[in-house]
Amino acid sequence: MTVVDKALAFAAEHMPETIGALKEFARIPGVSADPAPNAELARSAEFAADWMRRVGLEAVEIIELPSVHPYVYGEWLHAPGAPTILLYAHHDVQPPGRPAFWKSPPFEPEERAGRLYGRGVVDDKAGAAIHFAAIEAYLASGGLPLNVKVIIDGEEEIGSENLGTFLDRYRERLSADVIVLTDTANLSAGLPSITYGLRGIVVVMLEVQSIDHPLHSGMWGGPIPDPVMAMCKMLATLTDENGNVTIDGVGDEIAALDPVVRERLASLPYDDATFRAEAGVLDGVELCKGNGGSTYELMWHRPSIAISALEAAPIKGASNQIVDSARARIGVRTVPNMEGRKVAEALCAHLQKRAPWGVRVTTTIDGAGNWWMTDPKGPAFEAAERALAKGFGRDPVYIGCGGSIPFVEPFARVLGGVPALLVGLEDPLCNAHSENESLLLADFDKAIVSAIHLYAELSTLPR
Ligand code: BES
Ligand code: MN
Ligand code: MN
Repeated sequence: MTVVDKALAFAAEHMPETIGALKEFARIPGVSADPAPNAELARSAEFAADWMRRVGLEAVEIIELPSVHPYVYGEWLHAPGAPTILLYAHHDVQPPGRPAFWKSPPFEPEERAGRLYGRGVVDDKAGAAIHFAAIEAYLASGGLPLNVKVIIDGEEEIGSENLGTFLDRYRERLSADVIVLTDTANLSAGLPSITYGLRGIVVVMLEVQSIDHPLHSGMWGGPIPDPVMAMCKMLATLTDENGNVTIDGVGDEIAALDPVVRERLASLPYDDATFRAEAGVLDGVELCKGNGGSTYELMWHRPSIAISALEAAPIKGASNQIVDSARARIGVRTVPNMEGRKVAEALCAHLQKRAPWGVRVTTTIDGAGNWWMTDPKGPAFEAAERALAKGFGRDPVYIGCGGSIPFVEPFARVLGGVPALLVGLEDPLCNAHSENESLLLADFDKAIVSAIHLYAELSTLPR
């Protein structure tokens, strides 16, 4: 029996324990939304660190920087002469959203019809579990075929703001020949997918004020500018009737779609009805046509805007008022070659200029992460293709991603442009960031098998 076969057998035999540990992990509400360090994220880091020690990783350390959610690091470096891979996942999770919309409580993981439900199960605690399970399987079977470093991020969901500091301090310790990240999606359940690009993101907070206290709308309405109306008019200028982003001074820098990428997109399975059903688009609602590109082009290769929060006065308890102020949180997804900083500044200037009636506008830039794009060629990607084909029993596809992972671009750059393999288990039915988030357990199993094959495949990479 080869080491790979032993490791595969071990992983299969210990799947119940792995799922058990994942469930325990998912009981910890390590929500990172509030940047102030909190006890639950500390517990979540502890849990990850214990799991890492248990599987045989060494030098396991919870990395604490001042006022940053904890990262966790571990390594196994006993394969002299073999390549080193850096494995990434994140242990922080999104807030649970509206409790009444969960069919089972968000932090009490429950299995239903082959899926495990709970906040953070797929985004991204399963991602961490895949690494841990594959490492454990090898270390229980005689050792890993290559050197492994593991970094578990504690602040991914809020933009890994302290990555810069982190990078400066730990660059040496994190050096590797290949990065493997388990935090992206499969195009559909059971279809293994390698992600070749991520959009970036820029977030701007907007506040519009016109009066210093709310007024009776009958007594004062007419001459007094309504700040909510003003804000709606301003927001309405950010996209055109096809959904294209129309921020002054932004657009010329957007790269045309590479013909190779265009062909890759065209080769992917796509079905309008399935897409609409998976997204839950209501009957009669049309998809935005954008610049005429395909759905995948619009999601992965064009910028988009989402107003992710809006605030004026709650409907419950509303009275006939002109309210004094309104606020919005505006997220812009960016693509090559947009510059996050510039987009944020252009957006702020655009809003200031569109403010009707001289209403007071305050904008605050609230974080930015870079887009990342790679040409998925070369031995590392070929190794991933072979490993995924073995794990899932079908050939993988290459996909883009409309989401962002701030870690990828700076790390790949600092490590000298090493290949980054992005694989993961989000799928169109997983409800990441929404209520009833879930992990497809059949794919979790296949991903662990793939990871075991991947380490073997990567161990023979030319260095
Ligand atoms: N796992 C996601 C990234 C992702 C999104 C992968 C969609 C596959 C499909 C990640 O946890 C995430 O949500 N990232 C944030 C980053 C932001 C806070 C800078 C995002 O995209 O909003
Ligand atoms: Mn994630
Ligand atoms: Mn996420």
